[in-house]
Amino acid sequence: MAKKLYVKTYGCQMNVYDSARMADVLAPLGFGTTDGPEDADMVILNTCHIREKASEKVFSELGRLKTLQAARARDGERLILAVAGCVAQAEGEEILRRAPFVDIVLGPQTYHRLPEMVAQASRAGGAVLDTDFPEEPKFDHLPDVTAQGVSAFLSVQEGCDRFCTFCVVPYTRGAEYSRPVPAVLAEARRLVEGGVVEITLLGQNVNAYHGEGPDGRDWSLARLLDALAGIPGLARIRYTTSHPRDVSDDLIAVHRDLPHLMPFLHLPVQSGSDRILERMNRRHDRAFYLALVDRLKTARPDLALSSDFIVGFPGESDADFSATLDLVRRVGFVQTYSFKYSPRPGTPAAALEDQVAEAVKEERLAQLQALLNDQTQAFNRACVGRVMPVLFDRAGRHPGQVLGRSPYMQPVHLDSGENLAGRVVPVRITATHPNSLAGIPAGERECA
Ligand code: SAH
Ligand code: SF4
Ligand code: F3S
Repeated sequence: MAKKLYVKTYGCQMNVYDSARMADVLAPLGFGTTDGPEDADMVILNTCHIREKASEKVFSELGRLKTLQAARARDGERLILAVAGCVAQAEGEEILRRAPFVDIVLGPQTYHRLPEMVAQASRAGGAVLDTDFPEEPKFDHLPDVTAQGVSAFLSVQEGCDRFCTFCVVPYTRGAEYSRPVPAVLAEARRLVEGGVVEITLLGQNVNAYHGEGPDGRDWSLARLLDALAGIPGLARIRYTTSHPRDVSDDLIAVHRDLPHLMPFLHLPVQSGSDRILERMNRRHDRAFYLALVDRLKTARPDLALSSDFIVGFPGESDADFSATLDLVRRVGFVQTYSFKYSPRPGTPAAALEDQVAEAVKEERLAQLQALLNDQTQAFNRACVGRVMPVLFDRAGRHPGQVLGRSPYMQPVHLDSGENLAGRVVPVRITATHPNSLAGIPAGERECA
């Protein structure tokens, strides 16, 4: 009989990718996916450790699942509970101590071994814990990817060697690793054959990519992007997340030369203060970031930027915070993520003495988000009247409405009698709403 798997995903896009791959790994065991835990035979929580709030969510969710598992047991049924991802990696033992009803705890680098873990857990006799960093990468053992939808993620690089002082990722994902070029191209071709027209390459520090090429040499991200653009049917390419220090000249050049590459770049800066950037171990200053943005915009004048910010990093003064506001005003971002600094166990910044008071963090976050939100709204308003290529991927809320994404990731909706899913269509933007744009079809020739 078919078994049902429910995967709940927290955190970043790589976790979204990993969740889909875990489902691929378990499919040969007869597991099909389901939308909720109620009718599942197995539940995987794919967790995130990046901030305290993200981590704590796991334990509250486990509390709910414990009740469900017990109810099932009363009916003589088994619900296998697994905790995967970055909390599992960082706090595996702690999870088993606080939640002994969990059957499997596995890190981000071992999920190719899930079939063995499930077999072991089914034989009963204690929980399975596998948070290794295996010598051989999991990618060599994963089954072929299953394409879903028109836009897909593809992990090309994982782990990080940068060790920003606030960040858990180097500890939870391990050392930086780049997948070989042929494996990436094969996965991309398979996705495109399955109907995908947009691929977002993923990596914790994706522009540090240096995978082995078919010629035996290390290829840069730029070279990989160029090769991907040669796949017929692949209309759009994106990549995320980039570290400013790893933006090379050839990467800037592909932004100029490759029409497939969307003019939208997520380039986290975290802070606009040199003193704080130094304490964060970001290894660049604000002048470097501003000059980099200039070079990118010279190469691709319609490029828009997105970023991440942390407020209230230890020692951040009013003057440091003002420097962040000033950098934001100078650059102008169209989409952003901003967070209060959250001390993470084991990271160097958590041990710093001059932690910023919660109330100050809150006040700064509100001020920064107001400015960032103004910039996003101003950008959206400036899009009205423009013609943009929109990739449609699903039906909208109203009958006849279709929903897609602009090159800048803005949701765009349109009334159309046609099923436009999977097509890139020129759209004239007619209005902005708080979280989306509205448009009408524009003539093919109008498309910029
Ligand atoms: N690989 C990405 C970072 C992933 S984490 C990169 O290098 O940019 C995503 C974002 O979470 C980071 O950019 C940072 O802004 C935020 N973040 C990471 N650790 C944090 C912490 N301890 N407190 C608050 N925000 C944090
Ligand atoms: Fe974390 Fe990104 Fe810094 Fe790596 S580069 S340590 S993933 S913030
Ligand atoms: Fe979270 Fe791990 Fe991603 S900590 S942000 S799920 S790499």
